[in-house]
Amino acid sequence: MGLTRVPGLLYGGDYNPEQWPEEVWAEDVRLMAEAGVTMVTVAVFAWSRLEPEPGAYDFGWLDRVLGLLHEHGIAADLATATATPPPWLVRRHPEVMPVDAAGTRLEFGSRQGYCPSSPVFREHAVRLATAMATRYGDHPALALWHVGNEYADHTLECFCPESARHFRAWLQARYGTVGGLNAAWGTSCWGQHYTGFDQVEPPRRAPGPVNPAQLLDWRRFCSDALLELFTAERDALRAVTPDVPVTTNFMSILHGLDYWAWAEAEDLVSDDAYPDPADPSSHMAVALSYDLMRSLKRRPWLLMESAPSAVSWREVNAPKPPGVMRLHSLQAVAHGADGVMFFQWRQARYGPEKFHSALVPHGGTATRGWRDTLRLGADLRRLAEVAGGHTSADVALVFGWDSWWGLEAPESMPSDRLRLKDLLLSWYAPLHARGIAVDLAPPGADLSGYRVVIVPNLYLCTAEQAEALAAVTGELVVGPFSGVVDEADQVHDGGAPGPLRDLLGVAVEEFWPLPDGLTQPLRHAGGGAGAARTWAEWLRPDQGTAVLARFEGGDLDGLPAITRKGNATYLGCLPADLTPVLDRVLAGVPAIAVPAGVEAVRRGRHLFLLNHTTDEQRITLPYPGRDLLTDTDLRGDAVLAPRDAVVLRIEGDT
Ligand code: GLA
Ligand code: GLA
Repeated sequence: MGLTRVPGLLYGGDYNPEQWPEEVWAEDVRLMAEAGVTMVTVAVFAWSRLEPEPGAYDFGWLDRVLGLLHEHGIAADLATATATPPPWLVRRHPEVMPVDAAGTRLEFGSRQGYCPSSPVFREHAVRLATAMATRYGDHPALALWHVGNEYADHTLECFCPESARHFRAWLQARYGTVGGLNAAWGTSCWGQHYTGFDQVEPPRRAPGPVNPAQLLDWRRFCSDALLELFTAERDALRAVTPDVPVTTNFMSILHGLDYWAWAEAEDLVSDDAYPDPADPSSHMAVALSYDLMRSLKRRPWLLMESAPSAVSWREVNAPKPPGVMRLHSLQAVAHGADGVMFFQWRQARYGPEKFHSALVPHGGTATRGWRDTLRLGADLRRLAEVAGGHTSADVALVFGWDSWWGLEAPESMPSDRLRLKDLLLSWYAPLHARGIAVDLAPPGADLSGYRVVIVPNLYLCTAEQAEALAAVTGELVVGPFSGVVDEADQVHDGGAPGPLRDLLGVAVEEFWPLPDGLTQPLRHAGGGAGAARTWAEWLRPDQGTAVLARFEGGDLDGLPAITRKGNATYLGCLPADLTPVLDRVLAGVPAIAVPAGVEAVRRGRHLFLLNHTTDEQRITLPYPGRDLLTDTDLRGDAVLAPRDAVVLRIEGDT
């Protein structure tokens, strides 16, 4: 059994029949069946059509839609329909709309118009979720619940009085007393000592930089407040349909929400991914987010949304050239997706997304878009046996949201050029190019199964998280500016790397950010030359700590740049080229040699070879096997056409 009770790889997309006359629905389901669609997401934005007047439901049209889907063998990922509150709710209770940091209440007319902390919104959303579960809990088309939609896409935070009240309650639960809050927030700085929780407000616009500890708690609170909203709907569904899995669609590596915590609250991870077809490296960045999705629950996940061709929300919306929709879809499956879904089924004729591509384009079935839709459906059927396959990785990248939020606090850091996503990608890209599978892991996780653990940055590091890194038995690599502060954003005693001091055998005396465009030369112990960019540190190694590279010339001349104690490598800089470090720690880790731009991904007993280039590529197969896409046996060399793929069932592997 896969992610849902639907067998094989799921295929489908967002279906918004409420935007079309009923005559079109019959054609929709006929075309879905023709394309091999197995599941569609329904009713995401349908609240105002399902409950046009307070408490007066109109389920008739959705009954007919679900009936038609079921007749054609198509399952429903049924939304709770709470992604846009109806106008009557907003007019009756204007306070459900969010307020921005400057104090302006936002207006109706878009979507996600809700304050995450509004008890009124929550009450109505839970009531609708319960009504949906009661009406459709036994419907044979129901395969999955889809709560809300892309939480934090438009509304991550709200600064209204209700949010302030909720924030204070959250703080009170965390700190107990206002004294605890003062200590954690360091309010002796800049005269911010509070004498009661009632004096605390969200970080609205202030005259100067806002207390970074207050901001960090605000980020935590905002993720938690939306998670509470999700959980309230989830619980309403579970009370009626305990056996139907619940998901909400994530937004890849999103700064606003702590997906480690969110994933625990749902039954299956689903993600929306929109790599920019105009960016030739976007397939690499999206692979990182796919690996995160697989790692969140350490299980297969679902690509809930992607674009068949162009999106409509970039300044310039490049279409996907022929072959790319298929290639990117196979890529998601390679990285653990048990289904590929799209936004959206039928291209809209009105609204902000009328130029967004769809599985059925404006031009209908005479288009290349429709031919791509058919082709992908056929390919996914050929790959049915891949569903459920697991990935085993030798390398883990450690990252978590607390540290990310702390690192990217505005206006108070040594440099604002350390961006966590860039740091993750700088490590991920060379691993990806070597065909080495990577898991992501949260700080504090048990990392004992990995041969190599890389921590690109852990600015905020607690004693427990340091212990988890000390327990690593494989190679450990820690990037710069790690172990700097505790969970309250207060600098550890003695400075960085704080609780990692003994493990790494090095003290950081001073941070040495490098101006844009300037590099600091360095030399590796073996003699090779290198350079640091963006960031360096004045390090003082302990006796017995080896120096693997030293700065050469400039203000840091002769000081250590990269050190090693036991199994732990520390980088007191951002090397422009990570190859020497990787070559050393990856010794013995199996890699798959492929030409640049070709991706090699092992999943279970299958090997995916994905040619992201516009040239033909010849690849020496590491194993013989049967290509499921062409149903042919391959051994020796395989030749991949531009943007083509091979999915090899490895011979003899069971
Ligand atoms: C100004 C302010 C100080 C301090 C320094 C930091 O001089 O008066 O309080 O913020 O800047 O450079
Ligand atoms: C997001 C939303 C969808 C749609 C797509 C367009 O993923 O969830 O409703 O707006 O973007 O790319």
